[in-house]
Amino acid sequence: MIAIGSDHGGYELKEKVIAYFNQNGIEYKDYGCYSLDSCDYPVFGKAVARAVANGECEKGIVICTTGLGISMAANKVKGIRCAVCADTLSAKMTRLHNNANVLSMGAGIVGPNLGIAIVETFLNTEFSGDERHQRRIDLIEE
Ligand code: RB5
Repeated sequence: MIAIGSDHGGYELKEKVIAYFNQNGIEYKDYGCYSLDSCDYPVFGKAVARAVANGECEKGIVICTTGLGISMAANKVKGIRCAVCADTLSAKMTRLHNNANVLSMGAGIVGPNLGIAIVETFLNTEFSGDERHQRRIDLIEE
């Protein structure tokens, strides 16, 4: 189960990602927002992060205009490693090395096609499991 959420700036890209989920039979929970009306990104970043941190969802995706503010909010929740990605190599590396559990994107930065490619890469790349990477992740959590 994937948790997804955005503010108004990320709403349209969120809907595109949801269409991709529906086309590919990927289960998700949509934590809002639900329109283009102006709203506060921390509300949605934290809702997605909490769903991942408490085990309700396996991974999360958060989207705002830049991907920045909503990632900061998500990263305030204990156990969350949220990475802002604007390219597929970053999405791959943050799974392999950081075991990121939440992906953040900026809808004003990436277009819909690149956004979907980033989501695909993030969801389909497993953590390497290497001891040195786990050690570094543990140091982040300390
Ligand atoms: C909202 O205008 C904008 O500030 C927000 O979407 C996000 O980019 C913040 O970091």
